[in-house]
Amino acid sequence: MGQDATVPATVIVGAQWGDEGKGKIVDLLARESDVVCRYQGGPNAGHTIVTDGETYKLHHIPSGILSPGTACVIGAGCVIDPETFVGELDELEARGLSTADIHVSGNAHLIMPWHVAIDRASERRLGRLQIGTTRRGIGPAYADKASRLGIRVQDLLDAKILRQKIETALAEKNVWLERVYGAPPLDLDECAERLERVAQRLRPYVADTSLLVDTALREGKRVLLEGAQGTLLDLDHGTYPFVTSSNPVAAAAATGVGIGPTRIDEVVGVSKAYVTRVGEGPFPTEIEGPDQERMRELGGEYGTTTGRERRCGWLDLVALRYAARVNGLTSLALTKLDVLSHFERIPVCVRYRLPDGEETREFPAHQSDFHHAEPVFEVLDGWEEPIGDRLPRAAREYVDFVEDQIVVPVSLVGTGQAREAIVALH
Ligand code: GDP
Ligand code: IMO
Ligand code: MG
Repeated sequence: MGQDATVPATVIVGAQWGDEGKGKIVDLLARESDVVCRYQGGPNAGHTIVTDGETYKLHHIPSGILSPGTACVIGAGCVIDPETFVGELDELEARGLSTADIHVSGNAHLIMPWHVAIDRASERRLGRLQIGTTRRGIGPAYADKASRLGIRVQDLLDAKILRQKIETALAEKNVWLERVYGAPPLDLDECAERLERVAQRLRPYVADTSLLVDTALREGKRVLLEGAQGTLLDLDHGTYPFVTSSNPVAAAAATGVGIGPTRIDEVVGVSKAYVTRVGEGPFPTEIEGPDQERMRELGGEYGTTTGRERRCGWLDLVALRYAARVNGLTSLALTKLDVLSHFERIPVCVRYRLPDGEETREFPAHQSDFHHAEPVFEVLDGWEEPIGDRLPRAAREYVDFVEDQIVVPVSLVGTGQAREAIVALH
């Protein structure tokens, strides 16, 4: 079958600072898909899915795992903590789910114990200037990948090579840990044994995932590419340095999985109907005063991975317009609209006021402008009633306002945590 016969792939991308509800949207769309692939990030991600009264918290494994018959792929662009990954496999199996159709790229990089140790030590040392990482070793693992010092999933296939690579890495990392960070060194035998133990379990999942996805597309199968984190945490396009160390933006889905960009034709952005952020960094629409706490409680805004309180703010349409631009969004899923049902009046940021007094609808290109940007709000009417299968009039007006401002159609509206709590528009 020629390439012409293929069905294009769809990207699901976070349009804010992560935790937009990507897991729920991917789970929903996965029911109509044959393959779901994660293209970047690692166990810094926490995707919560609530279905049939059961709650699943996924870190590594794509949110397609709850759809029987859907293959799950972890692409080359991801970083994998082998122990966390195996723990997740065990948990899913204990809950009666099959993990037989999970496939991991041999080119994905491994998060090693020294990456976690360095992430922690580095944050501690930065003190007041810390990024507020998830301390899962993400930054140090991607840094080693770029330095060509990384250890990859395929290295697990050969115990001798694996031990050699650990030895080479530790010779340098222990100097850093001890001399730079004053942290205890790691033991070669212990590291090698830990890795060898999980390697046995991981081996059957290693596959040529680029070929697997390409074959699926050629066979006309439906493929979803699932992002972790979000646009404003993107290493190149986010609020640097308060970002993650990979590229969540949609274009990175092609490199992260190993297919050409011509295979992607739809990009679904996921955004909350308000904004949250975990960790440090600028956040223009962050709420000051009691509404921040109220929103956190109403939305259950505590991190899936770290349990940290999420900072809460009103919807930022300047940032969302930017996300529409850098991802080329073709539609938007607006989640957690139900949380706003409790507010009488709902401010929405439509412009930023910059330090020189100028107002702009565009996301500032210079970091100082963004750090000092003041939100200019329009205040919309609340609806103050629960949302059922249909949106109350003011809720519909809220959605229409978002659509008009970002010029992207809103295709799905989240109205509650459960899989069924969703309204399809258009
Ligand atoms: P992700 O990282 O983008 O997958 O998002 P998280 O799972 O970290 O955080 C989103 C949270 O909101 C999860 O607890 C979801 O179960 C929940 N959620 C998703 N969509 C909705 C919605 O429409 N309404 C409500 N109330 N909760 C939602
Ligand atoms: P999901 O996939 C929200 C944030 C961290 C920190 C910054 C860098 O669930 O949306 P890192 O550990 O990646 O080096 O931390 O990025 N962060 C997330 N925030 N959701 C996530 O993932 C995140 N992954 C990382 O809080 O500010
Ligand atoms: Mg999350």
